Amino acid sequence: MRILQGMIALALCVPLLAREPVRARQAMVVAQEPLATDVGVRILKSGGNAIDAAVSVAFALAVTHPQAGNIGGGGFMLIRMADGRSTFLDFRERAPGKATRTMYQDAKGNVTKASVEGWTSSGVPGTVRGLEYAHSKFGSRKWAELVTPAVELARTGFEVSYGLAESIKGSPKLPLSAESKRIFIGAAPGDTLKQPELAAVLTRIGRDGAKDFYEGETARLLSAAMAANGGLITVDDLKSYAVIERKPLTGTYKGYGILTAPPPSSGGVGLLQMLGMLNGSSYEKAGAGSAESIHFVAETMRRFFADRSKFLGDPDFSKLRLDDLLAPAYVRQRALSIDPSRATSSATLQPGLPEPERGGQTTHFNIVDAAGNAVAVTYTLNDRYGNGITVPGLGFLLNDEMDDFTAKPGSPNAFGLIQGDVNAIEPGKRPLSSMTPTIITRDGQFFMALGAPGGARIITSVLQVFLNVVDFKMNLQDAVDAPRFHHQWQPDVLSLERGISPDTAILLRVRGHKLNDSPGVVPAQVNAIVRDGSWLQGASDDRAGGKAAGY
Ligand code: DON
Repeated sequence: MRILQGMIALALCVPLLAREPVRARQAMVVAQEPLATDVGVRILKSGGNAIDAAVSVAFALAVTHPQAGNIGGGGFMLIRMADGRSTFLDFRERAPGKATRTMYQDAKGNVTKASVEGWTSSGVPGTVRGLEYAHSKFGSRKWAELVTPAVELARTGFEVSYGLAESIKGSPKLPLSAESKRIFIGAAPGDTLKQPELAAVLTRIGRDGAKDFYEGETARLLSAAMAANGGLITVDDLKSYAVIERKPLTGTYKGYGILTAPPPSSGGVGLLQMLGMLNGSSYEKAGAGSAESIHFVAETMRRFFADRSKFLGDPDFSKLRLDDLLAPAYVRQRALSIDPSRATSSATLQPGLPEPERGGQTTHFNIVDAAGNAVAVTYTLNDRYGNGITVPGLGFLLNDEMDDFTAKPGSPNAFGLIQGDVNAIEPGKRPLSSMTPTIITRDGQFFMALGAPGGARIITSVLQVFLNVVDFKMNLQDAVDAPRFHHQWQPDVLSLERGISPDTAILLRVRGHKLNDSPGVVPAQVNAIVRDGSWLQGASDDRAGGKAAGY
């Protein structure tokens, strides 16, 4: 049978496992949870634009995908309008005013669990102001209309999927919060999950806008709960939270224009550095999935993450050396240090720039509307269900984004990332992120939107899906499905996903790579849209469920 299938595949000249992406003529939504995708498509069909749909999808995910969809977290929205205007909305959480540099170290200087557990792990949430900002600048429908689908999903409930039930069962944090336990624990596949408290908050947000969350009833209840439980977020922290509009980072690769995430994300710098090292290297000649191409790309990852550990943080608190990090001569010099036949040891590889003279669950969705406006959003609670705490009476989960700061230089965070002084905790500062919402253009037109959840793996997964489309000419679904690999400098391990051939793994070991002991490590889950002539292709990542749909 296998042989026969193989012969047929050969005769048809298609790889055996090829899958078709979802195709649509006009508009497309790809999100990590099907009900939220459907909400987005409904908004688009009723005449809303991509930004309207993004607002609705984000609120819907806060109800149907509580692992990461949120109003108690933060994130980034990359927007490219059909007329070429683009912007990046930074609604990342901020450290509360009472935060201190060593707040996650005990008396002996050891890092504690308080950056991921309990009330002090939360940064000031940015999502609601972020969505309101996007809507006020680019939206076309009434705000209340866009919040209503989420209110309905929370009020009347929705059917718990197998995936959600399993994820709730597997969460170590939800049972620690009495309120989370009451709402989520025990939800079984097929049950209807109603969230009346969340519905009430969303109703107020629909009526009063973000003001409710930052200055109204919700702000009052949230800051009171914080005070009662030893948390740090105050009325003032909420009131003073502001969205920051930033210029997207831009670059090019083989004629494609790249718009991506600037700091406080490290993702865009990573993507552009790695593409810069790959450009002109001919790494792709060895073929997708070959030991030679994996080796070369992994070495670019190792080099970027070494730089990330030292040079990146919130640009509003330190002068970052972005021009130096992305200077073609520097990137070329880093690429030249790659030995095509031998892994560099991370112990000997240091962050690359010379000293200055003086001086981490998440979810991603994309929307393209019929006019060609494109939105890529990654937002998060950090860990799955954030810190697991549901604010009593408010029905939403709190983030544990403070873990993305450097709790102690040299100590890894939840994603194993070693981070530097530039990313130390300071009041009002935003923690360094790996979230990489990205939009690619070709000849000045929208070509691709992509991004992912998955901590440090986001950056390397976005890179690989892009390379699979552009360099290895895969259709979008195959590009997303193809097994991936990841290197982040420290630990000095090349993680190979199940599906990369054992023979390839042997060849990588021969080159000196230390491989992960248990293949099957799940990489970040990429959701993407590509323009293919007059069609749009949409692909959600089956590693995380999700749905692409369009019309
Ligand atoms: O901003 C970041 O880089 C992390 N807080 C993202 C966390 C994440 O992707 C977890 N998802 N699986």
